[in-house]
Amino acid sequence: MKRLIVLSLLWLLITNACAVDAKEEKEMFFDSMAEQWEGTSCSKEELGKIEKIVPLFGLQEGEVVLDAGCGTGRIIPFLLKAVGDRGHVYCLDFSQKMLEIARQKEYSGNVSFAKSDITQMPLPSESLDRIICFCTFPHINNKMDALKEFFRVLRPGGVLIICNLLGSEELNAMHEKIGGAVAGDISPGAEEMEWLFLESNFTPVELLDSRDLYIMKAKKRP
Ligand SMILES: C[S@@+](CC[C@H](N)C(=O)[O-])C[C@H]1O[C@@H](n2cnc3c(N)ncnc32)[C@H](O)[C@@H]1O
Repeated sequence: MKRLIVLSLLWLLITNACAVDAKEEKEMFFDSMAEQWEGTSCSKEELGKIEKIVPLFGLQEGEVVLDAGCGTGRIIPFLLKAVGDRGHVYCLDFSQKMLEIARQKEYSGNVSFAKSDITQMPLPSESLDRIICFCTFPHINNKMDALKEFFRVLRPGGVLIICNLLGSEELNAMHEKIGGAVAGDISPGAEEMEWLFLESNFTPVELLDSRDLYIMKAKKRP
């Protein structure tokens, strides 16, 4: 019995240490990518694409919104414009370097930043109308923990939107090609995403996985 307890404790220690290593490796990867990301992902063409996609999020004036994994902040101006002066955009990311670039930009509207892991956010429960997880969900190591945390901070009836600029097959192939810290970063297909939503108490409302656009929307059950 004693041996079993010792073995279980050892197993817990080892798996926790691996999870911490994987998280740190990913933070370091995104820190090292921050300047390059700002250069390539904020081109006129990319921003033009984003401008056309943001209206699909259904943002309303006055809403309190989270940009989960905000990176260097490329979608913040579009979110601020949509929620207007009475709204607020909270921006979180665990990469210090990504946040530094995002914070340096000038915004018009109510915006706040915090360095945080998405799976443990410094936000009160039921405080948000909408969460936008843009080009970030595939990179989250523990997707179920993230969904539970999204559920906690959304108000009842609040909406979670997961959006990528490539379909799941295309994005997964791209991450595999890049290799390193993102080699195994998977964008779940529509069927798996529907299952993840249901398991975390969300009601799926839209599951679109086309070649060049991925939008998964779900509502927090009241
Ligand atoms: C591909 S970038 C996208 C950034 C931004 N949403 C955009 O579209 O420009 C992914 C971002 O997610 C962040 N990220 C990944 N996993 C995270 C986690 N568990 N907690 C917080 N941020 C995370 C990374 O640091 C990175 O800035």
